[in-house]
Amino acid sequence: MSKVMLFASGKGGVGKSTITANLAVHLARLGRSVVLVDADIGLRSLDLFLGLENRVVYDLLDAAHGRCMLSQALLSSDDLPSLRLLPAAQFARCKELDPRKLKKILARLKKENEFILIDCPAGMERGLRNVLNAGADETVLIVTPDDLCIRGAERVAALLEEKELPRPGIIVNRLDNDLIFAKEMVAARVVSDLLDRPLLGEIPEDPAVYMAQLRRRLVLDYACEAREALIRIARRLDGETVSLPEYGKKRRSFFRRHFPSPLKEVESDGQNH
Ligand SMILES: Nc1ncnc2c1ncn2[C@@H]1O[C@H](COP(=O)(O)OP(=O)(O)O)[C@@H](O)[C@H]1O
Ligand SMILES: [Mg+2]
Repeated sequence: MSKVMLFASGKGGVGKSTITANLAVHLARLGRSVVLVDADIGLRSLDLFLGLENRVVYDLLDAAHGRCMLSQALLSSDDLPSLRLLPAAQFARCKELDPRKLKKILARLKKENEFILIDCPAGMERGLRNVLNAGADETVLIVTPDDLCIRGAERVAALLEEKELPRPGIIVNRLDNDLIFAKEMVAARVVSDLLDRPLLGEIPEDPAVYMAQLRRRLVLDYACEAREALIRIARRLDGETVSLPEYGKKRRSFFRRHFPSPLKEVESDGQNH
């Protein structure tokens, strides 16, 4: 099994890079060989999520245009060799990425890896279209539960259909159990019904996500609800049957609502799951 998975969103700032990076790490921790492709040309970010920012020499555009070998552009961290990053170019424009060249790179990566996760540029512009034109085996749309984001996601879903890409699975991010319970926010299932696409995952609003970013760490490194949610989604991507939490169905206990637990690092058991 080897698949290219595109992670897209209708607008920026919805958590796409955070989610894609953490899913890639967990899949690698599950023993899969994974390549994370940062296709957000002009706004390289995944190197920061993985702590590889000082190691970037070549990037996706260099590899695509033959300025280096593909192997030279791929970076891996010492503690997780089964995950490699193909960083985005920082000082370039998205139109410089030729979809045919990207397609060739993806085909080569597929020969040696089980998962190729692509963090797409946000929005509907040329950057996204170029990446979509390279094709994919599966697509994922990241959405937050608000009208504007859902509207943007609808447009991306239509674009995926136009490009004859597979129907996307929906990941709803930044869900608030109590707001859903109070009917202030729509539940993840409602978002996926509105978009008429299957629900792949639910991730809660969780202060640990931003704290992890500030500390230049992964969300997965902290014992928090978002970590559990990300692991659940990674296992689903890996083919396991894992049920979703259905945030908002039940009211959280008084203590969980009023006494948030302090941020604690996950004790490494060598397995990390
Ligand atoms: N579930 C969440 N809870 C809290 N903050 C989040 C959550 N998901 C994302 N964020 C924050 O939202 C911001 C945007 O995330 P990012 O992954 O950069 O989005 P994108 O790649 O879609 O632009 C970051 O500061 C991140 O820490
Ligand atoms: Mg991003």
